[in-house]
Amino acid sequence: MWALVSLLSLLALYARGIVIPSLQSHDVSVPPDSINPYPGKPRLLFKKDGTFKITVFSDLHFGENPWDDWGPEQDVNSTILMNAVLADEKPDYVVLNGDLITGENTFRENSTSLIDEIMKPLNAAKIPFSSTHGNHDNQANITHEEEIQRELKVAPLSYTRMAPKGVGGTEGPGNYWVPIYRDAKDLAPILVLWFFDSRGGFSPNPDSVPVPDWVDESVAGWIESESQAMEKAWGPAELRGALAFVHIPPHAIQVLQTNLDSDKNPGLNDDILGDGSVQDSSAQGEDIPFWDALNSNVKNLHAIISGHDHGNEWCAREFTKDVIFCFDKHSGYGGYSSAGWGHGVRNLVFHTPDPKAGVETWIRLQEGDTRARITLDDNYGR
Ligand SMILES: *[C@@H]1O[C@H](CO)[C@@H](O)[C@H](O)[C@H]1NC(C)=O
Ligand SMILES: *[C@@H]1O[C@H](CO)[C@@H](O)[C@H](O)[C@H]1NC(C)=O
Ligand SMILES: *[C@@H]1O[C@H](CO)[C@@H](O)[C@H](O)[C@H]1NC(C)=O
Repeated sequence: MWALVSLLSLLALYARGIVIPSLQSHDVSVPPDSINPYPGKPRLLFKKDGTFKITVFSDLHFGENPWDDWGPEQDVNSTILMNAVLADEKPDYVVLNGDLITGENTFRENSTSLIDEIMKPLNAAKIPFSSTHGNHDNQANITHEEEIQRELKVAPLSYTRMAPKGVGGTEGPGNYWVPIYRDAKDLAPILVLWFFDSRGGFSPNPDSVPVPDWVDESVAGWIESESQAMEKAWGPAELRGALAFVHIPPHAIQVLQTNLDSDKNPGLNDDILGDGSVQDSSAQGEDIPFWDALNSNVKNLHAIISGHDHGNEWCAREFTKDVIFCFDKHSGYGGYSSAGWGHGVRNLVFHTPDPKAGVETWIRLQEGDTRARITLDDNYGR
């Protein structure tokens, strides 16, 4: 009853043009839940103790050399790793950050059956998750869209989505965001996870041609319009934290490698970034619209996180945009590797829902050893 009375009096004030301070921040004509992209799925929540943990598997590369023994053996090993890590880490959310499949080795008739293999550990552990896709997921016999459709069919806890038609460019449908709430009764999320499709690889079918290796310019306008819709529904972007995931690192981070410091930027640094290591390998500035839009619209962006370069694990601050970049950890037994690199995951832990508070992150190897632990906060990397 009291709620009804206060709602009516609020509406009366609103009708008389009197702005109520607590509602000033968003457009009252937009119900906060109207932009929730997952009305039929459980809301993703911080734990009751105020923490939220994400585990990132990257570059799983299932399906390598299916005509040999060692390819399928690698996938058995990758599945063992996933099961062991999920059982130990018990994350609240999992990200598969691209190159799920070595698409150039798969057969047209059964390429997406590899997705079923990858989803099994996640389905069994009942952990919500979502995926980005990489250059090896776009090949003559597989596309990002096919992998996404298959994932949605076989994994009930997948939050992967496709951007609206016209956003993402050729073979780049995987652009979306996922809201994380502090409490089940909150109408606005406290954290938004952004996922981008950096494309690359080859177009489908026997007449396959190279696909651009950057997040398409159309995604820049979409970031802006989605951010505006969020502000209308939920209030200013500063009220929320954010993390971004994209398989191929933005071009701007390539130069960071020349100035790494083992205290500030701990973690493996064995992969020299060169041709093909970052987005827009032809260096024509093609990923700049995306990079600009991300960094100007998304506030409290704790980091942008990529895989692709299997021998790197470091994080570093990119000063022109003042944003932290981090590599994942190569998780799959497939894909190129080198003695001593090992396999594992990147963990990220929010210790409080406060959107401005630092986020702890580190690399965990399969056997349980950890390294490269840092806190992503305003002091980091300065
Ligand atoms: C699978 O893992 C085992 C144990 O770590 C290792 O000895 C073996 O070489 C791996 N097999 C492949 C094909 O990667
Ligand atoms: C794609 O699938 C077809 C049919 O299974 C197969 O013949 C071909 O070798 C596969 N790989 C490529 C790269 O086309
Ligand atoms: C996929 O198809 C190929 C060629 O038809 C076959 O050799 C292979 O065993 C199949 N793989 C799976 C996982 O079904």
